[in-house]
Amino acid sequence: MPTNQRTASSLLADLAPDLRAALIRVGYDADTLLEALGDPAHSALGRSEPVPVRRAAADLGELGTLVRLLLLGDPLPEPDVAAALAPVDPERAIAAGLLHRDGELLRAALDLRPLDLGHGARWVLSDLDDSMRRRALDADHVLGVGQASLSLLRATPTRHTGSVLDLGTGCGIQAVHAAGYADTITGTDVNARALWLAEATAALNELEFELLEGSWFEPVAGRRFDQIVANPPFVVGPARVEHTYRDSGLALDGASELVVSRIPELLNPGGTAAMLASWVHVVGEDWRARVSSWLPDHGVDAWIVQRDVADPALYVGTWLRDAGLDPREDDAQAKAQRWLEAFEAAEVTGIGFGFVYLRAIDGPTELLAEDLTHGFDDPLGEEALRYFERSAWLRAAAADPSSIRSARFEVDPATALERVYLPGHEGWDQRVARLHRGDGPRWQHEVDDTTAALLAGMRPDGLPLSELVELLAYSETGDAATPEFESAVLGVVVGLVRHGLIHPR
Ligand SMILES: C[S@@+](CC[C@H](N)C(=O)[O-])C[C@H]1O[C@@H](n2cnc3c(N)ncnc32)[C@H](O)[C@@H]1O
Repeated sequence: MPTNQRTASSLLADLAPDLRAALIRVGYDADTLLEALGDPAHSALGRSEPVPVRRAAADLGELGTLVRLLLLGDPLPEPDVAAALAPVDPERAIAAGLLHRDGELLRAALDLRPLDLGHGARWVLSDLDDSMRRRALDADHVLGVGQASLSLLRATPTRHTGSVLDLGTGCGIQAVHAAGYADTITGTDVNARALWLAEATAALNELEFELLEGSWFEPVAGRRFDQIVANPPFVVGPARVEHTYRDSGLALDGASELVVSRIPELLNPGGTAAMLASWVHVVGEDWRARVSSWLPDHGVDAWIVQRDVADPALYVGTWLRDAGLDPREDDAQAKAQRWLEAFEAAEVTGIGFGFVYLRAIDGPTELLAEDLTHGFDDPLGEEALRYFERSAWLRAAAADPSSIRSARFEVDPATALERVYLPGHEGWDQRVARLHRGDGPRWQHEVDDTTAALLAGMRPDGLPLSELVELLAYSETGDAATPEFESAVLGVVVGLVRHGLIHPR
């Protein structure tokens, strides 16, 4: 597909200033909606239950009209719609593709919802989903504010940066978020309809995006960015495209492999990428080895976080429902059959899902791929940046081992030591001691008494590590530290620094 820099704006983007004026006038923003609808109706919205929302909207005047029109997809009388959307003329909104006629009534032809991304009211225009009305999604369906989109938003680093690439921008939701932390934003998509909506989303938020049409990295060939975000069409299955928002046309985890392997070429030195990805678990292969094989040998520090693993049947059922299909219907059963056969043929036992963070470095590629499948709420974006800072310190320390020995360390204020006792022959036996980080990804490390004593001695203005090691060795053996003892302690220190349980000072 030829690369195409969009120049002429659409009727929908032209409508955006008047539409924005209407949304602001009526108070169609995330905070006002939550307050006006109240918690029960707002929660019902999230559960796809229209009736409580419609009842709450009945008393909300023009705001209620917009809730019914835009969030519930109700057909409404033209005068009500015209009043709530003023100064937008309904005929212009129909011509622009925002509304359509349903007999005497008007309905929304697009989804328009407010978002609070921490930088004032924002809105996102996308295709109507099936959350409030049953509908099967078209092949070029443009995803709106979905769970995966929100999880990437929450996991994206937001320290100020120069240029951001949003690969597969869809309705532009990640690009709108990037406007809060980046100077320039480029969005690409293979789906022209997505770019039509992303352009209108940008206009509605008075933002400017560079929007480029084309497949994968073709529209930005030869360019580099300070940060890349990507929520690619990573759904794992047979090679086919039924929906551009989720299917890549590449078999199994080919889309994630392509994006993870190519992104490093597009990062400026020191640049960061944050993306969602999936990988299959296959018989006889460790998922970490699979994902690690996607990276180039040089130039990347990678932190890969597996948040969940689904069994094939659960995975297929979930994605059939996501596309508006009922797994009991005949055509859905035929799709499920083909999908599960493809998994079986490839010896897939599960589908892993999570975040991939990449940092462009000058040196051999490093990778930590780990399971973080336990529950935690803290967003990972800032943690990813700190992870790369800690990793850079450890690289420098590995190049000059004397620096780690002479460093002083402190225990992170969120680190706690937990000792677990179990009943034994003579009362309670201590079975295990664990260090916990009480924030971020809540890492835990099992430690022995030597490590617990080492941490008890760490102070920012205290002894350097080499002297702590000597003291420890003396207290345990009455002798100087052997090289084996010292290297065991250094190994533990490296692991604890990497997870932010202790910090060099
Ligand atoms: C899961 S959606 C993500 C949309 C949006 N960025 C978000 O976070 O909600 C994936 C997007 O990638 C786009 N896409 C699919 N195949 C692509 C390709 N070969 N090259 C570029 N974009 C593609 C789809 O059109 C869709 O907009």
